[in-house]
Amino acid sequence: ATVFVTDRDALEMIIDIRPGTSLMQAITDEGIGDLLALCGGMCSCATCHVYIDEKFLGQISAMSDDEQGLLEMSSYRKENSRLACQVRMSDSLDGMRATIAPAD
Ligand code: FES
Repeated sequence: ATVFVTDRDALEMIIDIRPGTSLMQAITDEGIGDLLALCGGMCSCATCHVYIDEKFLGQISAMSDDEQGLLEMSSYRKENSRLACQVRMSDSLDGMRATIAPAD
């Protein structure tokens, strides 16, 4: 799936992501340094916070209590916040936009 990722300098990058890969993995593999992903995808650091295109939110698996809890601690939490390590890519997410949230 092709995903448009915007970093904290408002630069947009287009990345192609294989189904099954996490959005966090794809962004870090691409060398986009704004997404620290310090815990390596264990859903425990919240440094992979992104805002997801509203129209794709319903197509991503629901949030776990852990993800919800971590996002609630962020001052930059929005309606469309997700942790990128918990977003599993699939072909139905083709064309999605994701914006890296500011650092807490
Ligand atoms: Fe740590 Fe996503 S990489 S919560």
